[in-house]
Amino acid sequence: MHKISMLGAGFIGAFYTNTIQRSRSKDVVAVVYNRTPETAEEFSKTYHVARWTSDMDEAINDPETDLVVVALPNFLHKEVILKAAKAGKAVLCTKPLGRNHVEAKEILEAVEKAGVFHGYLEDLVYTPKTLKALDYVHKGALGRILWARSRETHPGPHSPHFFDKEKAGGGALIDMGCHCAEICRSFIGKDVLPVEALAHTDTLVHPIAAEDFGIGLVRFENGAVAQIEASWTFRGGMDLRDEISGTEGTIWLNHWLRTGFEVFTASGTQGYVAEKMESDKGWLFPVGNEEDALGYIEMFNDMFDSMEKNEKPTETFYDGYIVNCILDAFYSSAKTGRWEPVQIDDWRGGHYEKVKTTKDYDEKHILIKDEIMPDGKHKFILQDKETGRVTQVIK
Ligand SMILES: NC(=O)c1ccc[n+]([C@@H]2O[C@H](COP(=O)([O-])OP(=O)(O)OC[C@H]3O[C@@H](n4cnc5c(N)ncnc54)[C@H](O)[C@@H]3O)[C@@H](O)[C@H]2O)c1
Repeated sequence: MHKISMLGAGFIGAFYTNTIQRSRSKDVVAVVYNRTPETAEEFSKTYHVARWTSDMDEAINDPETDLVVVALPNFLHKEVILKAAKAGKAVLCTKPLGRNHVEAKEILEAVEKAGVFHGYLEDLVYTPKTLKALDYVHKGALGRILWARSRETHPGPHSPHFFDKEKAGGGALIDMGCHCAEICRSFIGKDVLPVEALAHTDTLVHPIAAEDFGIGLVRFENGAVAQIEASWTFRGGMDLRDEISGTEGTIWLNHWLRTGFEVFTASGTQGYVAEKMESDKGWLFPVGNEEDALGYIEMFNDMFDSMEKNEKPTETFYDGYIVNCILDAFYSSAKTGRWEPVQIDDWRGGHYEKVKTTKDYDEKHILIKDEIMPDGKHKFILQDKETGRVTQVIK
């Protein structure tokens, strides 16, 4: 059983606490920190947390708790994780780990030096659909993964710190592209080196210094490509979709809008429908259990199980660090307009070359393509092994 100091009583602190407390888990949030005492007290009542405090150090050093969960704005992650590591506590941090890869590296080094358990709370690689899709990919159902595409878009976040470039470390790309980067890494293979990145960012709608729109490509050492789409300009709710293509197959995942629960109401549902849903009237797409659909339940199960077994969870601060390296390359590329290297000082994965697999048609020819035509005949497109000449055979 773990006793938790929850740092932050905002949007994600509530999701995390609700997930941990509501699933009748043996782990409990023992104390919640919020800088305004009134909110901390109200949160403790709503989510059944025994104690609250407006003193951050008191929450981190609480003698009853063994685990600190960081649910605070990005600019506070480094400061509080360094304190938690000093206190010898296990620590879980929301995304992104740092505002840039330098901060993330300092965070990683601090927890590793202190020898404390660390978990990166990237919930979207733990959704039930994603876990099943990853299982298929690991079993080879898609063959060699060539292209992973991940999109997170909505009309914009819910608090000022997200829109403050200095406090957040960027705009929509760091806020939501961090999810997409880790989703793509998970499907392509987390031990495959991300080599270079190209990105376009712009500020299209919101009057802010940071970007509210960003699209990026990452080229991996084995030739796979990640395509990342993050926007705060999308209207109509929250669009969370992933596409994975391999030599043997394809997976399309839709996590939020129009996923099989559609409601029309002229009079309205009188309030909240689902995260970032813009209306409570007309055609609505509610979500049955948001904690489950967004992966929070399986994410905390993995964190607590791993702590008990003294093992690393699926997502550690090292993953958070690699994600920050990718995002930094995006921001460099958005400035220069060129592909920029993903600078990783501490690569712990493998090295994989681009491997092309070919199929023989007969002794003399390689099969390029086999297609059934409208008249029912098979068209085989072939390459001569000696001359390289491309021909066709129709059967
Ligand atoms: N799916 C996800 O994983 C997900 C979703 C939303 C947010 N987040 C992350 O969670 C973090 C917090 O976001 P949120 O949505 O909960 O924001 P929020 O604004 O709803 O809550 C922020 C919390 O931090 C506190 N806070 C703000 N400024 C502070 C300061 N200067 N000193 C001390 N406390 C301060 C607030 O009082 C509040 O408790 C961010 O890093 C964000 O990227 C993750």
